[in-house]
Amino acid sequence: MRKTIIVSNRLPVKITRKNEEIVLMPSEGGLATGLGSVYREGSNVWIGWPGQEVSDLAEQEELTTALGKLNLLPVYLTAEEINQFYEGFSNEVLWPVFHYMSTYARYEQSYWDYYMRVNEKFKEAVLAVAEPGDVIWVQDYQLLLLPGLLRTDLPDASIGFFQHIPFPSYELFRLIPWREELLNGILGADLIGFHTFDDARHFIGSCVRLLAFHASANTITVNDRNVMVETFPMGIDNRKFESLSATAGVQNQVQVLGKRFQQMRIILSIDRLDYSKGILQRLQGFDLFLQNHPEYVEKVGLAMIIVPSRDTVPQYKELRDQIDQLVGNINARYRTMGWSPIHYFYRSFPLDILTALYNLADICLVTPMRDGMNLVAKEYVASRIHNNGVLILSEMAGASKELIDAIVVNPNNTNAIAEAIAIALSMPLTEQQQRMKAMRQMVAKFNVYHWVKLFMTTLDDVKKAQQSMQARRISPGMAQEMVHDYVHAGKRALFLDYDGTLVDFNVNREDANPDPDLYKLLNNLASDPQNQLVLISGRHHTNLEQWFGELPIDLIAEHGAWHKLQGGAWTQIPGLTDQWKAEIQPILETFTDRTPGALIEEKSFSLVWHYRKVEEGLGDLRANELMDTLRYYIADKPLQLLPGDKVIEIKNVEINKGKAALAWMKDETFDFILGIGDDFTDEDIFKVLPANAYTIKVGNYVSAARYYLRSFREVRQLLKMLVQEKNALKLQ
Ligand code: UDP
Ligand code: G6P
Repeated sequence: MRKTIIVSNRLPVKITRKNEEIVLMPSEGGLATGLGSVYREGSNVWIGWPGQEVSDLAEQEELTTALGKLNLLPVYLTAEEINQFYEGFSNEVLWPVFHYMSTYARYEQSYWDYYMRVNEKFKEAVLAVAEPGDVIWVQDYQLLLLPGLLRTDLPDASIGFFQHIPFPSYELFRLIPWREELLNGILGADLIGFHTFDDARHFIGSCVRLLAFHASANTITVNDRNVMVETFPMGIDNRKFESLSATAGVQNQVQVLGKRFQQMRIILSIDRLDYSKGILQRLQGFDLFLQNHPEYVEKVGLAMIIVPSRDTVPQYKELRDQIDQLVGNINARYRTMGWSPIHYFYRSFPLDILTALYNLADICLVTPMRDGMNLVAKEYVASRIHNNGVLILSEMAGASKELIDAIVVNPNNTNAIAEAIAIALSMPLTEQQQRMKAMRQMVAKFNVYHWVKLFMTTLDDVKKAQQSMQARRISPGMAQEMVHDYVHAGKRALFLDYDGTLVDFNVNREDANPDPDLYKLLNNLASDPQNQLVLISGRHHTNLEQWFGELPIDLIAEHGAWHKLQGGAWTQIPGLTDQWKAEIQPILETFTDRTPGALIEEKSFSLVWHYRKVEEGLGDLRANELMDTLRYYIADKPLQLLPGDKVIEIKNVEINKGKAALAWMKDETFDFILGIGDDFTDEDIFKVLPANAYTIKVGNYVSAARYYLRSFREVRQLLKMLVQEKNALKLQ
């Protein structure tokens, strides 16, 4: 039976010992709850590190057995691995860079060596249980290489990856010395998920700039596998918080805690100890609030919970000291005989106490500097079953994209934090209810179950789409069938595009010269009297003449504006005009002057704006702008705009490769027709050829062609096979 394998650095359980016996408690974190419904089912399994060093083998065995009962499979890390892979590369390189704190990063080679090694270790653990058909879902930044490693060993596996922290802009990501390796690792997945659209956009941006893969909208083509990059904002188990909030136990806790806080208005703040959470700035904001609003002295209390985390990493230790100091300082300055402004807890709390705190708090203050999502904000909202209370939320948290009815602040602006607290404290109940209701609806709809379901069904869809694309790839069996049709056909027409089809696509067009091997192949094909070979290209006719004028083949140039039959002269389609160029050329020149690297190519009946050498991103931006401008100018002219691969071509509507191919065939019939091309303009050929023609696209993109091949090399191989098989048959 097909199973789901979840892999994350940390297993979703807390391990303790009671009277020497191992006690496993499911952890409350969102991921554990959300995927809890998945990994506990059937033979599904969750692979991860138990969160502590267990070096004794007997102890490992005992723990493995206990975890196994919960469908959990441990990966044990040595002290050195914990130090270099977890604390080192994960939390001293990736965490700071991905949270825009790159000055904290330490690019140690040994960190990277261990990161690779431990990702390998996780791979071995997955391979030990993976079977064909299983779905593997890798979680988070500690395992960025794992999807790629798994892809090498399991080429057909269904692999998902979700990143729970932000993906930074290319400008930050490029700082990491091992950036290409990291991207290639992630791209081993079929579906890559992020919390926000910006994270997804940044990831695609980095891939396009650093790797030579083609990206179109949210799909990146990796070799011939289409990988989808999508936004899945993670939710929480809202029903759990709602129902817990209504229990007598939690309500009782609310009463008890309420008494402790002496009927003060409560501001709640809950985070793991982390510099990305903006804790110091939040405290400064609170300090400023007390300074600006002395009327709230003795009337307000800040309940600040910091959950211990990664405290062996130097910056975390330092932050803890700074928090201790600042809390002490603020308390010392504002304290009165019976009142302290900040109630600080450096510890974690069980879920019922947390829920009671969410219920008790008039305000929840969530102001991270950067946060992938921030589940605390959503948990507060879900717990407000009476729709009162105010959420103050940082615009840098992923959650702010959904919880737009919060008071949204810039976490660096301590004045804004102070003012937001004052506004929240005086917000009328009706406004609180209006905002909270809208946020609760959002949290309820996009809950964690919805998140899991959406990710899993999208992964299934991506896999199915890949499989149907794959079915179009010319397999050895399919090639045999084609060879059979070819050798037994009396009369054949072969339409071959040039750039990207017979030679590799070259940034410098002038460097894409035909080589001796290609001349030999074309001559071999042309020497078969049953073949009629047509080279059909967008290139200038003088260019084709120079390269192929002497060959016994037909040539169609400039997308059909010119043609030359074997040994004849070049002929132009009659009735074409190029007077429009006088108006369009100056527009293209303006854009070229504004865009370093862009150039204009002039053909007899078309103008082409090339931007392949323009800085990534700027080229697309200008191209869009140019398209908009040109649309207006060509509205009353018989012209067509053709956006291609880093080019925009403006040409007479009467000219296209499809019309040219049809005109060339006239009413002749052929027993075998082949059309091969790689770009947008070749689609016109695929569309006009009869249904039984062999139409082949180079590259695994959406196309009207029936089949695809991966590269010009595979095209040459196929054509050589046709020649060889035909010759072999002649010799028999
Ligand atoms: N949490 C907890 N015990 C505590 C405090 C918090 O289990 O004492 C949980 C909290 O309920 C939330 C998670 O820790 O689900 C924190 O997730 P968040 O996305 O806010 O931050 P992260 O720690 O992932 O950066
Ligand atoms: C964030 C990360 C998780 C990580 C958690 C706790 O939520 O996205 O991957 O597990 O923090 O951090 P820790 O280092 O204790 O696992």
